[in-house]
Amino acid sequence: MTVAEKHVPVLLSEVMAAAEPGPGQRVVDLTFGAGGYTDAFLKAGAHVVAFDRDPSAIAAGKVRFAAAGDQLTLIEAPFDQLEARLSDSGIAEVDAVVGDFGVSSMQLDEAARGFSFMADGPLDMRMGAGRSAADLLDEVEESDLADILYQYGEERQSRRLARRILSAHQESPLKTTGALAAIAEETLGKASKTHPATRLFQALRIFVNDELGQILRVLMAAERLLKAGGRLVAVSFHSLEDRLVKRFFSAASGKGGAVSRHLPAIGGPEPSFSLPVKPQRAGEQEVASNPRARSATVRSAVRTAAQPLEWTRERLRGLGLPPLVLSPYQQSWSTLS
Ligand SMILES: C[S@@+](CC[C@H](N)C(=O)[O-])C[C@H]1O[C@@H](n2cnc3c(N)ncnc32)[C@H](O)[C@@H]1O
Repeated sequence: MTVAEKHVPVLLSEVMAAAEPGPGQRVVDLTFGAGGYTDAFLKAGAHVVAFDRDPSAIAAGKVRFAAAGDQLTLIEAPFDQLEARLSDSGIAEVDAVVGDFGVSSMQLDEAARGFSFMADGPLDMRMGAGRSAADLLDEVEESDLADILYQYGEERQSRRLARRILSAHQESPLKTTGALAAIAEETLGKASKTHPATRLFQALRIFVNDELGQILRVLMAAERLLKAGGRLVAVSFHSLEDRLVKRFFSAASGKGGAVSRHLPAIGGPEPSFSLPVKPQRAGEQEVASNPRARSATVRSAVRTAAQPLEWTRERLRGLGLPPLVLSPYQQSWSTLS
């Protein structure tokens, strides 16, 4: 069995129940990874369009699913290209869009990808093309780095840590995950159960890959592409992702600002999604056999026939995004990547 075939997808039965893939349907897997969800969608008879920005995930997928023929289209691209790529293939609407956000266990486990502070590797952290975490340290201002650590890592000692990292980097360029993790340890100490570098690595990874901006843009694209009755399913792994998905569904289902949580807001636009299904987490048994499932939450909602919501500045503000997500700095980083 290949690594991909051995990989256990998180919350698969919950995702299948929410996406309801079936024969003749067109389902988008935004985050192909090892192909666990795609495999289940194909077996249910759906046509699948799957995205991954990681060339190695797509290359392995082409081998694993060679027999799927035109039932599967694999696209190596960031998923915020969803609408453009589907339109290139003449697809105007879909039955389900499913995302399982964040890094894959294969990416985390491969030291050379530079995502892990547990195994020493180059300071990279890119899921696909673009500029690396090492490139970021070469050019970032101290105040911007502190913002990244605070907003994307919820690191309370962001200013102190940013100063220490950049002064060490100026003395002798930090090139490895081990060297960076050691600075987090020296600066923050080892007071809690989680490694002091956890929040730092999460923050840099989110910035390098513009992870929250990607999710925001793809949720809005999915809203425009889903048929009435189509399903949007999102699996998140940390509170920043989950909060964004939760608030997006609240706003689109008319729950944000409603007088009752069972009724849409009076006088607001017609909801573009039904009230979201209660969030689901992995049970004890799944967590015991697949520890990655511990922090996963799945949220889903069904598209109504209403027009997509107009995402005004005010509505975007209501999503409670860290300001960096829509900042010129994050946007210029991603455009140049
Ligand atoms: C958690 S894994 C998905 C695992 C998959 N559900 C499975 O069953 O094997 C996430 C994958 O999504 C990809 N990914 C994350 N963000 C992406 C983005 N913005 N665009 C395209 N691919 C992305 C990563 O490269 C990774 O391979």
